[in-house]
Amino acid sequence: MEITSQQLPEDWKRLLEAALDARRRAYAPYSGFSVGAALLDEQDAVHHGCNVENAAYGPTNCAERTALFRAVADGHKAGSFKAIAVVGDTEQPITPCGVCRQVLSELCGPDMPVIMGNLRGDWAVTTVAELLPGAFKL
Ligand code: THU
Repeated sequence: MEITSQQLPEDWKRLLEAALDARRRAYAPYSGFSVGAALLDEQDAVHHGCNVENAAYGPTNCAERTALFRAVADGHKAGSFKAIAVVGDTEQPITPCGVCRQVLSELCGPDMPVIMGNLRGDWAVTTVAELLPGAFKL
């Protein structure tokens, strides 16, 4: 599913703006690539996330997972989220990495919208299941 910016519902536009705001707080001294995410919960509250890098590289946390993990740590339940937006300075709307797709598939419903954007104003919308068909589950 892909829809144009004009068709984006207002709450998704606001979510993208929140992701842009979160991006400003990225800690990305190694890649220089800042990413922001904004997760909408069941009460329409927004949880911000940014990428947080590390000198050992491996511990780096992507913006999407930062938003998801902090919302879970704040008491929100897996499957209760309404949407997530993610923004980076990419040619096309940024797409979540494989690790984040696995985490999205665990903590979000398969039909949950994932709104992807860049700094040029390009947007695309997909779903958790479209991002990772056949996700590993226990
Ligand atoms: N990154 C994210 O935060 N989200 C994505 O969807 C793609 C990649 C981060 C990880 C790392 O800090 C930097 O972008 C470069 O890969």
